Parts: sequence; C-alpha cells; structure tokens
Amino acid sequence: MSTLDMTRIPEHVGIIMDGNGRWAKERGMARVQGHSAGMKALKEIVKRADTLGVKYLTVYAFSTENWVRPADEVSGIFKLLVLYVAQELKELDDNNVKVNILGDVSPLPEDAKNSIEKALRTTGNNTGLVFNIAINYGARAEIASAVNALIAEGRREIVPDDISSRLYTAGMPDPDLIIRTGGEYRLSNFLLWQAAYSELVIRPEYWPDFTPEVFEEAISEYQGRDRRFGGVK
Ligand code: FPP
Repeated sequence: MSTLDMTRIPEHVGIIMDGNGRWAKERGMARVQGHSAGMKALKEIVKRADTLGVKYLTVYAFSTENWVRPADEVSGIFKLLVLYVAQELKELDDNNVKVNILGDVSPLPEDAKNSIEKALRTTGNNTGLVFNIAINYGARAEIASAVNALIAEGRREIVPDDISSRLYTAGMPDPDLIIRTGGEYRLSNFLLWQAAYSELVIRPEYWPDFTPEVFEEAISEYQGRDRRFGGVK
C-alpha cells in the first residue's frame, strides 16, 4: 500500500537506470538480456510516473561514454529503443505523454533515428507527462554546447539562466528527485547542471528489479527530505 503524500509528488524525476549488466550476469545471461529486462521495467515506471502525477520523467538510456561497450551490446540497446517505440507508442500517445530526446541522435543507427522521429512527431502536441529519454547524452557536452551557443551569439558575459535556457531541458523545471538504481553513489555525467538542488535517492535494486512499488518507496524517501535550497527553515 502506498504511503505517499499525493500533494507532494516530485514534478520532475530523473532516473539513472543502472545494474542491467549485473542483473544478467547473476543469472548467467548475456548483458543485452539485462537491458531487455530493463526495458520491461521502464514500461511500468513510465506508467506509474504518469498515474502518480509526475510531470517530467527523464531516464538515462545511453551515455556519450557508452559507445566503448561491446558492439553487440550497443546495437542491442538501440534495437530495444526501436522495440520500445513499436510496443509502447500508441499507449503513450493515448495517455497524452510527450516523448522528448536529450542528446545527439545523429550517430544512431537509421532505424533508431526513424523510431525516435516517429515518437517525437506522434506525441509532439501532447500536453501530459513529458518523457525525456537521454540517449547519447552527456552533461558536460550539453553544457559545453550551451556555452558555444552563447559564444556564437557574441556574448561576453552570462548569467546561469543563459546556460539553463540552452540545455536540452530548456523551459523545464530542474529535477526534484534523481534516483539511481544498482547501489552506486555517483551521477555519471547525468544532468550535472540541472541537478544542483536535486534530492538523490540511491536504491540497491538492479534496474530490472525496480518495480513501481520500489519507485513509490523512492518517492516516499524523497518526501521525507528537508529541501532548503541553500536557505534556512
Ligand atoms: C546501465 O546498466 C544501463 C544502460 C547503459 C542501458 C539502459 C537501457 C535500458 C533500460 C533499456 C533500453 C530502453 C530504451 C527505451 C532505450 P549497466 O549495463 O551499466 O549495468 P551494470 O552496471 O550492472 O553493468
């Protein structure tokens, strides 16, 4: 049973979906099977985030540093993205979910780019949950690109909002809560700028074992935090 305060659901939740590889290894399976199980977990979390009233959900699916993984694992993740869109797009659209991509998709395989384009086109006018998929995403590259845009505009002096408004998340609130599964305590180049005041919740479960119930426990932990944003009570 959920013990959540429905008046204090985080508006923006970020998730570092870690542990797919370890989940697979423990079962004597290939890493890509861990990602496949992770894709199934993701389906359920998107639905629960939506029913709980989360407004922005940002998930880290592939980082700019993940290209060094074995080729079959990299191509396997992109195949899962294609499969995810094929299986879920209609329901996402029916639920008014707006899909958005954070990252540079230009080096992705053609079929993955086509799926992304279809998802963006189909859900572009939706007004419900904003579902950000970070793919070929890295926060340092994102910040550097924002700075380069400002240089190109001829700016000699900037304020923090100038950076914020040139990130992939321009116009969105910063994440209130960032969840990392798989038990490790780091951000791994995820939303570094936007995470300035995010509450971090680390869960021991590997991502494929991250059920909607565990998601609610993570939100419950967030609701127990005292957010001061540098001030005092
Ligand atoms: C991190 O676990 C996970 C990833 C790099 C991939 C995440 C991908 C999915 C959840 C499925 C794809 C779904 C879509 C929509 C693209 P890890 O491999 O680093 O795990 P480990 O730390 O145990 O090795």
